[in-house]
Amino acid sequence: MHSLQGSVALITGGTTGIGLATAQAFIARGAKVVVAARNREQGEAAVSMLRTQGEAAYHPCDVTDPLSVAALVAFTLDRFGKLDCAVNSAACDVQAMDTHEMAFDEACRSTSTDVLGVFNCMKYQIEAMLRQGGGTIVNVSSINGLSGAPTAAMYSAGKHAVIGLTRSTAKEYISRGIRINAVCPGATETPRRTRRTAHLDATALLAHQEQLAQAIPIGRLAQAEEIANAILWLSSPESSYVVGHSLVVDGGLQA
Ligand SMILES: NC(=O)c1ccc[n+]([C@@H]2O[C@H](COP(=O)([O-])OP(=O)(O)OC[C@H]3O[C@@H](n4cnc5c(N)ncnc54)[C@H](O)[C@@H]3O)[C@@H](O)[C@H]2O)c1
Repeated sequence: MHSLQGSVALITGGTTGIGLATAQAFIARGAKVVVAARNREQGEAAVSMLRTQGEAAYHPCDVTDPLSVAALVAFTLDRFGKLDCAVNSAACDVQAMDTHEMAFDEACRSTSTDVLGVFNCMKYQIEAMLRQGGGTIVNVSSINGLSGAPTAAMYSAGKHAVIGLTRSTAKEYISRGIRINAVCPGATETPRRTRRTAHLDATALLAHQEQLAQAIPIGRLAQAEEIANAILWLSSPESSYVVGHSLVVDGGLQA
């Protein structure tokens, strides 16, 4: 794969899980990285680990707040001088539940992170990229953005919306040098998944994991690094003719 030496990448939700693995993958290719999320302690821990491998900075950001996102992009430009590759990985944690039991406020919380959060990020990332003449954006959707997910209807709706945002903006900006794509991971080992199964005891957890793995043709969950590699490819010149695509990385589940 091409070196990304000298490139600058900004990753929201970049302090844990898929976002953090993506930051590591960018750094391994020589890029400078800004990781952003709300939790300062997690951010500082992530950045001190990333700095053992290359150049990295953390900036606190709440993607639901346009001013916070504007400040994040301004920080990136100020710190590293440009923004070449943006990855929008932040997403809301919503408890699985029957749709009729979900409170309106919870539905709004989900939408404001998963849909408006991606809009906020793209708005300011695109503004910066237009000024410098181009860049790439990868939005993290899900296989739940391509088909329905019982007990996770708002999450699924949000991830469908991420694909809609990706396709529309991809067509809108490719002639202006900004290449936008999405990645659709299947079940991936990250802190999000650990939180979702925290209520299970050891035996129930093992049974749950075995059942999940058996349903996936490859026979296991993805590692965050495997999703990061797909994101890195979509961000790199190797995928230069790939525009508005939603790349499924799910061990064969949707096949
Ligand atoms: N893990 C999976 O099985 C899986 C499967 C499909 C898609 N995804 C998607 O991958 C992405 C990353 O998920 P993950 O599994 O690495 O989860 P994660 O919980 O490890 O990472 C999500 C990150 O987003 C941050 N975040 C949440 N709300 C935010 C906000 N308002 N502003 C800024 N940051 C915020 C969190 O602090 C966290 O760092 C998400 O978009 C998720 O929907 C995950």
